[in-house]
Amino acid sequence: MNRYQQLANDIKQQIENNTWRAGEKIPSVRMSSRNYSVSAATVLQAYQLLESEGWLTAKPQSGYFVTAVIERGTQAVAPDIRLAYNDELCEFLHSNMEARTSFGSPLPDPQLYPFETLTRHLASAGRKMSSQSIIQDMPPGNESLRRLIAQRYLSQGVKVLAEDIVITSGAMEALNLSLQVSTQAEDSIVIESPAFYGAIQAAKRHNLSVKEVAMDPMNGLCLSELEKCFSEGVKACWLMPNFHNPTGVTLDDETKQSIVELANRYQVTLIEDDVYSELYFGEQKPKPLKYWDEEDRVLMCGSFSKSLCPGYRIGWVVNRSLSAKVQKQQLISTLSGSSPIQQGIAHYLQFESYDSHLRKLRRELSTRQQLLVDKLKVTLPESCQIHAPQGGYFVWLEFDKGFDTFPLFEQLKKEGISVGYGSLFSTQQQHKHCLRLNVSFECIGDVDAAICRLAELVAQRHE
Ligand SMILES: Cc1ncc(COP(=O)(O)O)c(C=O)c1O
Repeated sequence: MNRYQQLANDIKQQIENNTWRAGEKIPSVRMSSRNYSVSAATVLQAYQLLESEGWLTAKPQSGYFVTAVIERGTQAVAPDIRLAYNDELCEFLHSNMEARTSFGSPLPDPQLYPFETLTRHLASAGRKMSSQSIIQDMPPGNESLRRLIAQRYLSQGVKVLAEDIVITSGAMEALNLSLQVSTQAEDSIVIESPAFYGAIQAAKRHNLSVKEVAMDPMNGLCLSELEKCFSEGVKACWLMPNFHNPTGVTLDDETKQSIVELANRYQVTLIEDDVYSELYFGEQKPKPLKYWDEEDRVLMCGSFSKSLCPGYRIGWVVNRSLSAKVQKQQLISTLSGSSPIQQGIAHYLQFESYDSHLRKLRRELSTRQQLLVDKLKVTLPESCQIHAPQGGYFVWLEFDKGFDTFPLFEQLKKEGISVGYGSLFSTQQQHKHCLRLNVSFECIGDVDAAICRLAELVAQRHE
């Protein structure tokens, strides 16, 4: 590779990792010549190459500027090679952060959350804190917050005490700690298929092998398959019985009870991911598996990320007998969650009506889902099945089996739109014809246009 090509590659990398952003002016030819100890001609050649590939735009008398992602030529985009799962997942998560319209994002529209009210409570809690109190909330976490969370479960008939709860950094830490205390490297665990990619990634990180049990958007979890896996000796089972991510399925009470009975019979630990249950559109909040858990076999993981404050990173895990182990693992990994944030949320829960925020949030999410689904129905081919659940903010699309949504993701990404392509949700390839869309956004402007563009590309690829 010539020196100018090398230099062009370096600059490409700097643009890709956002050292230089779209619209920013990069150093002049003279300055780069000095910085990189190469001739001005070499720098100029590198800049011209980047210009021809669409990374830079030359402006007469002004210099070279980074081109917006959307205007970059196809050469500027990484070639179509599938990366190892965790790298692929990181790329996907990045694509959500960079997108203008983020149907792929796991995060709800932040405008739906009481950001200013929470900031006020954070400040009020801050005024009551002392230098001593901010170092007191080590595991299991802030006591008021744990009591307030326990009270919410009790009001639903789920027997939870404050002392059963460990506050974590989001549900993701709660789920990872649960996996850590219930398994050892090389154990087998059960996950759903499709599954939340966080479960696949966590299993890989802890060096566990996974067995996938079908989670059908129409028929729910296959209990006979689950029992077969349990009978083959798995240590833990990671499930999302309410508003499953990505399919949206909520299991009925009978099935939930049967799962707990099976886990008791085969002595399998249940890791329950219950982060969406506050977002129900119906009359009643669906019950967690924990409701039927007489043997303390369920580690129930929750979070405020989806219901109150995305980004505050406060979650929890509920279990009595494993609580000490969870706390120990937390102490030796992240130490604890942030104390001021825990106190701020506790303050909000004490002095505001969380329920009235939730009622408004659910109403808005339901309306937004309806509008986006209506739009999808009139734009997508009739053969596409749209699974729109009675809660949460995802819809799951199933196209014809031969369809692969990964190239669709790649094309849309170039245009500033992200989508959750199907192969992310399994260790195998059986869901590659599916797509997860975040429908928490208002169907106007860019969002509306992005649905039309998605439908246009689907139609082209279906031909
Ligand atoms: C199913 C599921 N579980 C867990 C999490 C992680 O939640 P938190 O942001 O509280 O860590 C997410 C976030 O996207 C999720 O979708």
